Amino acid sequence: MTTIASLEDKFYQTIDAEEKIEPKDWMPDDYRKTLVRQISQHAHSEIIGMLPEGNWITRAPSLKRKLALLAKVQDEAGHGLYLYAACETLGVGRDELLDQLHTGKAKYSSIFNYPTITWADMGAIGWLVDGAAIMNQVPLCRCSYGPYSRAMVRVCKEESFHQRQGYEIMTTLAKGSEEQKAMAQDALNRWWWPSLMMFGPNDSVSTHSEMSMRWKIKRFSNDELRQRFVDMTVPQAELIGLTIPDPLLKFNEEKKGYDFGPIDWDEFKMVVNGHGPCNEERMAARLKAHADGEWVREAASAHAARKSNSESRLKTA
Ligand code: 3HC
Repeated sequence: MTTIASLEDKFYQTIDAEEKIEPKDWMPDDYRKTLVRQISQHAHSEIIGMLPEGNWITRAPSLKRKLALLAKVQDEAGHGLYLYAACETLGVGRDELLDQLHTGKAKYSSIFNYPTITWADMGAIGWLVDGAAIMNQVPLCRCSYGPYSRAMVRVCKEESFHQRQGYEIMTTLAKGSEEQKAMAQDALNRWWWPSLMMFGPNDSVSTHSEMSMRWKIKRFSNDELRQRFVDMTVPQAELIGLTIPDPLLKFNEEKKGYDFGPIDWDEFKMVVNGHGPCNEERMAARLKAHADGEWVREAASAHAARKSNSESRLKTA
């Protein structure tokens, strides 16, 4: 006889055997709930993340830069669609997910609530934000939930292009005129600490990490991935002659990694709670884009309805 206990045993045996949980498999409600929470917020972050960079598409300094930025922003839209589709396999509809974003019930990454003031911000976002995203997303390719892990494999391939084109922008500016180098340093100063916040709160106060790691959704803790990101990025800054804006940053021979200064968690909480520099602007742009897209959604569903009607008429003829 199948009992909840036997279903739970099978669930954990599958996870502990490094196999995937698929949509049709039994899963604990809390596992499903945390996946809907994380995957939907990840998708929302991709869609909102298009806005800061979209701001510079018409002002890119060359056709080559414009093409790369256009491609990147289009990629982010695609990442959002993969992730919404992965989330829908958990039994929640797209409209409901978008409604949670539009009504503020669901979060998106704090990083996208900062302004993109100069062209160098496009470099800093690609280098630091997408660099942090890669650090966080590569382990998610081994997430226990099949559709999420498979979406991540595709996303990570495109993220590496995002990170490279960002670092190339920063390299060009850092090796350019004094003004250009100052612009790159200013962007690094403004994006460094918010990028560290992308990894989430310290492990000691993380609400979800313990269960998320037991369920092999999260493979490494917030602090572990943050540390790896710092250790990878500091030498990249030094290579192009930029300075990380942290006077306490120091290589620790013992741990073979960098010690760094305290993160301003009050700023993090303020931004996550809707009071960041661009929260209102981002949500207003998102809501306008959704409203402007109403006719496309209506046309697509009318077409789908007409298509299914003609198919059912053919079947009965
Ligand atoms: N911004 C907003 N909210 C954040 C956050 C951030 N930077 N970091 C953590 N939080 C929220 C969590 O969502 C959670 O709130 P909730 O319970 O309302 O969902 C709370 O803070 C506690 O954090 P936890 O560490 O306990 O939560 P998680 O275990 O979910 O860890 C996470 C947070 C590491 C962001 C994890 O959710 C994750 O890995 N998500 C998938 C990756 C992702 O969403 N990245 C966002 C950026 S996407 C991106 O950069 C795209 C690229 O193409 C540019």
